[in-house]
This record gives sequence, C-alpha cells and structure tokens, in this order.
Amino acid sequence: MTAVAPVRLGHVAVISSEGERLVKFYEEFLRFWYTDDIQGIATFLTCNRDHHVINVVNAPESRLHHIAFELKDTACHAVAADSLRAAGVKQLWGPSRHTAGHNIAGYHYDPDRVIVELYTEMDQFIPELGFHEPRPWHEHLPMRPRTWQLAELNAWGAEFSFDLAQG
Ligand SMILES: [Fe+2]
Repeated sequence: MTAVAPVRLGHVAVISSEGERLVKFYEEFLRFWYTDDIQGIATFLTCNRDHHVINVVNAPESRLHHIAFELKDTACHAVAADSLRAAGVKQLWGPSRHTAGHNIAGYHYDPDRVIVELYTEMDQFIPELGFHEPRPWHEHLPMRPRTWQLAELNAWGAEFSFDLAQG
C-alpha cells in the first residue's frame, strides 16, 4: 500500500466570530492579498502564489476548521482515498473540484476529528497582475478576485455531503 504522502502544508481554514476583523488584520497588518470570497461568509487570502493560505469563515464561534495538505498530483487522490479507506477513514466530501481556488479537494477527519483536506491543482495568484494564472477550467478570463455564490461551491455540481460550518 502506498502512503498518502502529502508534499506540503498548503492552507489553514479558521472559523472566526470576528471574521471581518481577522480579514482586516491579515490584509492590513500582514499584507496578505484578498483572492476570493464566498458571499462574504468565507474569505480567501494569500501571502504567496497559492490561491489561499488562509480561509476565514465568518461564523459565531472561533476555532480551526480544517488544515490542507497538497498532494503531488491529481492521481494521488485515488491513492489517498484508498489508503485512508484501508485505514478505516471515510471521505467526508470529494474528491471534487472547488470553484474558488479550483483545487481538487477531498476531506476526512484526523484522529482528533480535525478536518483534513488533501488537494491538488490550486489556482496560482499573480499579485503583480491582480489575477489568477489562466488554467483550462477557468470560466472567467482574466480571473480576478471575485465573490462566488454558496450554491456554486463545486465546479462539478455535486453537493457537499457534510456541513462545512458544523465540521
Ligand atoms: Fe481548504
């Protein structure tokens, strides 16, 4: 059995009861770039070329939501899912492609019930140009930071099978 073997930590998603203040902190103090949001409920920010390294979910509690590790390539999602299944770990959602960030993402719980995302193919943001590197699956060119709707979380049409806000 091949190990899941992520190649790096990619991003962290937090739920914050003071989401707007937290976003402002990242933008104004740490100088992160805003790259997208989902109806103002989730805001994506980056300090490098990844579409997001932090995702702030504005909800009435404050805690970690998930941590995300990048896999080497898209074929690794099947290896990861099979390896997790062999270890008795079910997928919570996915792998499927997001709209914001366009990453292919699968989610599962770690032993402490922290949600772990395994992903590939995340959009790359070019701050000097203010848009995301063109990729074949983009429907908006040039794809500048924008607001996505809650109903369009999944580029392939599947519904989330778990409540991201409750996870
Ligand atoms: Fe994520």
